Amino acid sequence: SAAFTIAIDGPAAAGKGSISRAIAAHFDLAHLDTGLLYRAVGAQVLTGSDPLRAAQNLTADDLQGDSLRSAEVARAASDVAVMPEVRAELLEFQRRFARREGGAVLDGRDIGTVIVPQAEVKLFVTAAAEVRAERRFKELLASGAETTFEQVLQDVIARDARDSSRATAPMVAAQDAVLIDTSDLTLSAAIAQAIAAIEKDF
Ligand code: C5P
Repeated sequence: SAAFTIAIDGPAAAGKGSISRAIAAHFDLAHLDTGLLYRAVGAQVLTGSDPLRAAQNLTADDLQGDSLRSAEVARAASDVAVMPEVRAELLEFQRRFARREGGAVLDGRDIGTVIVPQAEVKLFVTAAAEVRAERRFKELLASGAETTFEQVLQDVIARDARDSSRATAPMVAAQDAVLIDTSDLTLSAAIAQAIAAIEKDF
C-alpha cells in the first residue's frame, strides 16, 4: 500500500503517546514516538556528550530504556530540541519513517508543521496544563519518583513555554490539524475522537 502518514502533535502529557499507540494498532501502522529521539540525545548530553555528535550517532538501542522517561531527561531533551543543528540531524530519519510503505503514525511537536507538512491526517492533542500535570504527577508517583504536584506543574509549564517559543520548529498546531482537547475526556473517548477524525481521510 502507499505511504499514509498520520501526524500527531501537542504538549507533554496530553495523551499523545497513548492515542498514537492505539491508532497505530487500530490502523495497523508503524509508530514513531519522536520525543524519544530528543530524549536519547538529551540523556547523552547529561553524561557529557556533545549534542550534535549524539544526534549524528543515534542508534535504535539508544531509544530503549526507562531512564529516558525521567523528568531530568525530559528537561535535557527540551534543551537540545532548541538547537537547529540537532533538529536538522534528526529530520531525515523522521521523514523516511513517515513515508515508509504501509504507512506510519508519528507523534511529537513539529510533525504536521515541519517533518511531514503533507501528512494525510494531522491531529493536535492538547489539554489544560493542570490536567496534564495531574496525569504526569500520578505516573511519576506510580513509578516511585519523589516529587510534588507543584513541581510537576512548573515543569509542564516551563517545557510548554520553551517548546512553543523556540525559533526553530516551535510547537504549534498546523493550520489544517484537527484539535482534540482531552481535558475532560477519558482515554478511550479521546481515542474514539482520533479514530473518527482519521476515518474521514483514510
Ligand atoms: O514528547 P516528549 O515529552 O517525549 O518530548 C521531549 C521533548 O523533546 C519535548 O519537550 C520537546 O522539547 C522535544 N521534542 C521536539 N520535537 C518533537 C518531539 C519532542 O522538540 N517532534
